[in-house]
Amino acid sequence: MSKVTVVGAGNVGATCANVLVTTQVADEVVLIDIKEGLSEGKAMDINQTVNILGLQTRLTGVTNDYEKTANSDVVVITSGIPRKPGMTREELIGVNAGIVKSVTDNVLKYSPNAIIVCVSNPMDTMTYLIHKTSGLPKNRIIGMGGALDSARFKYFLSIALGANPTEVEGIVIGGHGDTTMIPLTRFAAYRGVPATNYLSDEILSTVAADTMVGGATLTKLLGTSAWYAPGAASAQVVAAVLGDQKRLISCSALVEGEYGENDICIGVPCILGKNGIEKIVEFPLNDAEKEKFAASAAAVRKTNAALAGAL
Ligand code: NAI
Ligand code: 2OP
Repeated sequence: MSKVTVVGAGNVGATCANVLVTTQVADEVVLIDIKEGLSEGKAMDINQTVNILGLQTRLTGVTNDYEKTANSDVVVITSGIPRKPGMTREELIGVNAGIVKSVTDNVLKYSPNAIIVCVSNPMDTMTYLIHKTSGLPKNRIIGMGGALDSARFKYFLSIALGANPTEVEGIVIGGHGDTTMIPLTRFAAYRGVPATNYLSDEILSTVAADTMVGGATLTKLLGTSAWYAPGAASAQVVAAVLGDQKRLISCSALVEGEYGENDICIGVPCILGKNGIEKIVEFPLNDAEKEKFAASAAAVRKTNAALAGAL
């Protein structure tokens, strides 16, 4: 029996729970929020789809009752405030640090063996906060950002290529921020053939730029940050862990020398399996890419410095 808890029944958390139920990734999902009735309502709505769709996953919604989350295999943390138009992810740090820390303490009290997937922003810094405060081994703390950014990269690549999105490969590493993420255009491919064979440098630069502001573009259109792809990307990470899939997905991981960095959580290609982050894979970056990664790490480190009070 596999059990997943999703903390935060807002846009991203409820979407993640919905995808977990509709893809039947887990046997049981608990959706928990601090706001009275919200999780119960979202769970009831989702549960009313299961007979339409013929689904078996059991979903329960609870208000702040962590006992109900006991013995979860994976916990997804989406609680916190999202950004509004014009805001950066970094501006969320003060409020979200307190929320993420208290939520982590609560979930680990009842699920001491859980693997944590952190979604709340600024995600790399929140993931680092969990490392610093939870005492969990590094493989059990996964930051979700690269899975989403890579999905956005593949979306824009598929449009530029006129290709089926499922036949396009692409990965984004670095921080989960508009200026810190690094879409690796040199490694993008269409059915194994480097995309550089089909797309000019100029078009690839536009694809990379659109990817980097992908979240901001949606925030401007929607008035709040996006949720369908973020929720689905969070569920994709959960599925890779529960299914011991050994998939290579870009996640924010604690680096200890990989890519020349230490003591930060940042997006790197990770093999995900039943133990969480089972391996960080080192791509053969060229000098320009290494420089971008170092700049991204410096920016993430600077944001982490704002955590001082919360640690
Ligand atoms: P939302 O406002 O729709 O939902 C957040 C939920 O968290 C609310 O329902 C709120 O009641 C709940 N909450 C607040 N404090 C809580 C606590 N102490 N315990 C339990 N629940 C609590 O926001 P949305 O759009 O779902 O975004 C959630 C977070 O995810 C934001 O920080 C956002 O920036 C981040 N995000 C991260 C992405 C990523 O790729 N890492 C992508 C999209 C959003
Ligand atoms: C996103 O990328 C804001 O992190 C959020 O949509």
